[in-house]
Amino acid sequence: PRLEDIHARVLAWYDANARDLPWRRPGTSPWAVLVSEVMLQQTPVVRVEPAWTAWMERWPAPADLAAAPPADVLRAWDRLGYPRRALRLQECARAVVAHHGGEVPETEEELLDLPGVGAYTAAAVAAFAHGRRAVVLDTNVRRVLGRAIEGRALPPPALGRAERERAAGYLPAGTAESVRWNVGVMELGALVCTARSPRCTACPLLGRCAWVAAGRPDDEHAHRRR
Ligand code: ADE
Repeated sequence: PRLEDIHARVLAWYDANARDLPWRRPGTSPWAVLVSEVMLQQTPVVRVEPAWTAWMERWPAPADLAAAPPADVLRAWDRLGYPRRALRLQECARAVVAHHGGEVPETEEELLDLPGVGAYTAAAVAAFAHGRRAVVLDTNVRRVLGRAIEGRALPPPALGRAERERAAGYLPAGTAESVRWNVGVMELGALVCTARSPRCTACPLLGRCAWVAAGRPDDEHAHRRR
């Protein structure tokens, strides 16, 4: 079956090509994964790496960040941009301490209740911090799924329920495989299936990609985005 073939190809490609990012290493705490996801929302990986490492050394647990003076938190956030995100993260740490005994909750429902945690972050933390089966949809994942499986150049600007349900249908059945699929598709979008100049010759889905099979048609939303 086609989907199983796509799964196997993405998982094998991820195993061979994944970047060694510090928050992906075994032993990273759920809180450290959550911090990485918040930082990565609007800041590129290269700038997040040193900031995340310094941050986690200074405030390793939610209780540490919860007790920090906000001025220190803002100063440490510094060049990551959008300083209000730093204060939201501190509010999140305080909520984890106040309502979850200092441990990051495991379900998407509980995660969504935390300050600054939206659908993407809740799913990413459930999957990457707790090893749960979740539909992790960021712009990279949406683009890869849209191209490889649905044959469109770019996903629509707004993420809707139908797209989320389709993505849920593409998840491998096994929990461990679903976690690797989420991060593998994300990595494929970051490294190969990029928005502007996808490197299709380096893609494990070349020969399986619906967008390539259709002749790489242009983005049907392009006129709206300009
Ligand atoms: N690994 C897990 N989540 C990630 C993200 N948002 N960006 C880069 N690598 C990741």
